[in-house]
Amino acid sequence: MKNELLQGDALKLLPTLPAASFDALITDPPYASGGLSTTDRKKIPSAKYVQSGTGRQFPEFAGEERDQRSHLRWMTMWLGECNRVLKEGAPVCLFTDWRQLPLTTDAMQCAGFVWRGVLVWDKTEGVRPQLGRPRNQAEYVVWGSKGSMRGDRRAPILPGVIREPIRKADKLHMTGKPTALMRQLVRICEAGGRILDPFAGSGTTLVAAQEQGYGWTGIEMTDHYTRVTRERLRAL
Ligand SMILES: C[S@@+](CC[C@H](N)C(=O)[O-])C[C@H]1O[C@@H](n2cnc3c(N)ncnc32)[C@H](O)[C@@H]1O
Repeated sequence: MKNELLQGDALKLLPTLPAASFDALITDPPYASGGLSTTDRKKIPSAKYVQSGTGRQFPEFAGEERDQRSHLRWMTMWLGECNRVLKEGAPVCLFTDWRQLPLTTDAMQCAGFVWRGVLVWDKTEGVRPQLGRPRNQAEYVVWGSKGSMRGDRRAPILPGVIREPIRKADKLHMTGKPTALMRQLVRICEAGGRILDPFAGSGTTLVAAQEQGYGWTGIEMTDHYTRVTRERLRAL
């Protein structure tokens, strides 16, 4: 299988991928978060998310408009397709925020995966402080596997907390993850294995995978972020 970035709807494209062909699912889907009410949730991403520390406006992205019930159903649908294309024992890592953490652990299990833990991404003190309140400085990686995980997998010990700030020069998407964070996370895949990211955004997972010698397949819906990812990969 060659490394490729597909453009389109993950729900339509995942069924075209061969069964049992990936060694890890590492992805950062739309959170459909950012508010207590349905009206809040339906706002465009730039109105919902603080664009921390970059002083820039990023183009909008897809998939943020669902309410809680339809988001759980949608997550379960695409995760079910991912289950089909993963090999037995493959790790699964799903980014989420504090609001959607319970929904994400439910979706992982509804799709038939074993939920094994939650890794913390500590964004450091660079995020916006809130007077009289805890700083909202963490996001989470819900992780698990397709069935049981062999104890002798060719993968290193990973930290349970990854402390990595958002750096302006490295952020190419409104909710883009630091490349240094993804370089650590992709190591959950067995050495030389193939990683799937069906919500590639600006391609950070794919860049980290490529740099560390993994195979990869990415999917992204928007023209803009597909272009950004292609340019990043070309520049490696
Ligand atoms: C949270 S962002 C990923 C950001 C990425 N981790 C990065 O560092 O740039 C999720 C991405 O999924 C894309 N997306 C949303 N719904 C999609 C769908 N049904 N199929 C494929 N991509 C989708 C969005 O356009 C968005 O770019």
